[in-house]
Amino acid sequence: MYRKNSTLELPEEQMKSYGYQVVDAVVGHFCEQKNKLPVAIASREEMDNMFLEEAPENPTQPKQVLDFVLDKVMTQSTIVSHPKAYSFVPGPSNYISAMADTLATGFNIFSGGWVASPAAAELEIITLQWLLKIFRFPAKKGGGIFTSGGSMANLTAIVTARNIKCGDDFSKAVIYLSDQAHSSNIKAIRILGFRKHQIRIIPTNLEFEFSINKLKNAIAKDKLQGLQPFCVIATAGTTNTGTVDPLTKIAQICKKENLWFHIDGAYGGAAILSKEGKKLLKGIEKADSLTVDPHKWFFQPYEMGCLLIRNHKYLKGTFTEKPEYLRDVEGNQSEINFYDHGVQLTRRFRALKFYMSIKTFGLKAFRNAISYNIHLAEQVEDLLRKSPNWEVISPATLAVINFRYNPISANLSEKELDKLNEYISKKVMESRQALLVTTVLNNQIVLRMCLINPRTSLQDVKDTLNLCASFAKEKCKC
Ligand SMILES: Cc1ncc(COP(=O)(O)O)c(C=O)c1O
Repeated sequence: MYRKNSTLELPEEQMKSYGYQVVDAVVGHFCEQKNKLPVAIASREEMDNMFLEEAPENPTQPKQVLDFVLDKVMTQSTIVSHPKAYSFVPGPSNYISAMADTLATGFNIFSGGWVASPAAAELEIITLQWLLKIFRFPAKKGGGIFTSGGSMANLTAIVTARNIKCGDDFSKAVIYLSDQAHSSNIKAIRILGFRKHQIRIIPTNLEFEFSINKLKNAIAKDKLQGLQPFCVIATAGTTNTGTVDPLTKIAQICKKENLWFHIDGAYGGAAILSKEGKKLLKGIEKADSLTVDPHKWFFQPYEMGCLLIRNHKYLKGTFTEKPEYLRDVEGNQSEINFYDHGVQLTRRFRALKFYMSIKTFGLKAFRNAISYNIHLAEQVEDLLRKSPNWEVISPATLAVINFRYNPISANLSEKELDKLNEYISKKVMESRQALLVTTVLNNQIVLRMCLINPRTSLQDVKDTLNLCASFAKEKCKC
């Protein structure tokens, strides 16, 4: 009796029409998003008014729920793949990968162990091999894992580094990172139980790079005090400015001092596909572990991060636990169970979207898109430098540029400039026409653009700068 209405199924025809409506909505979004306003603003109260209700005991017509969601939910999110979404790290996804995710979810493929899905494990191995080759990591010994994002990849790297370099006793271990390293690294270090005195935040130089001299001093001092330096985290493309730390020099220090060298390339790593990026990222191949983040500049939808590792045995040695009920599912050595390479046991099939999008478009399309982004940021820098009203604060680097409104004729104080640029960002956001927020560099409040969307045109940026200038003029009459 209970089985009636409890199999959670729909008739075939209804499933199809429901699915077609979903596809129509997604395609409509891909085609129309540039004509929408990218910024969603709503208070908790407004959202509660729209959605708050008890979990319903009784069913609602499927179409009614879907229509409500399309109308009210999908319209209340900032469009991170909009050409005028410049802030944080935008998410310029692609349609093939969105459909691949739909397939992976539709078939609910378990991507934890070889026995459950040999094809899913194989595609993860193959796509990781593509990445190992792209980043010039050892093809045979190297390995990795796809994760939910860059944060989880960094966490996986630091667990591995600690295990390999310190074993069980990490009471004297010290880890080094710069003041421009992404906050997910500190979060990971804290999650792992390191205390404040075991973390060295090394100041960056005037170019926002890891200061080599200060790093060497810190390591030497810690060794003199009987501590155990074990890991340096460098960044290949900082979130704030796109800066690449001096990777080759840090690699030399790590080698000499026997430290684990982790590179957080979550933002900038993908740029290696372009000629310009490859030059900037020299030394990235020397890392023991490298975070890259396909849901950023590899144009994948959320969630997809990746950790590459110089020796795959390090991951296996760190993460293998064998509960009794998994005894029979151990494959042979070459048949990887990815639950042995990271935190998750049950994992979605992330490799599929990477595989399908690269097969469909070809790597060349990705290379061209990234080169376009890097050049676009350089064109924007050029434009800003030629204007009497704008000041470049950090030059276009890996498609990131920071600047502020600072008219030569107005002679504004630092405080006035901070207020003015904060005001510009606030007004732009309120207008919902562009996602443009501020960051802080050298104690100055500045506007930051991250231009990794291949659908953003120079005209889009010019329109946004004109909008900013009109708000600025309104405020300061300059
Ligand atoms: C350099 C860097 N590392 C790590 C992260 C965290 O990645 P995720 O948001 O995918 O967890 C980011 C996010 O912007 C980043 O820019």
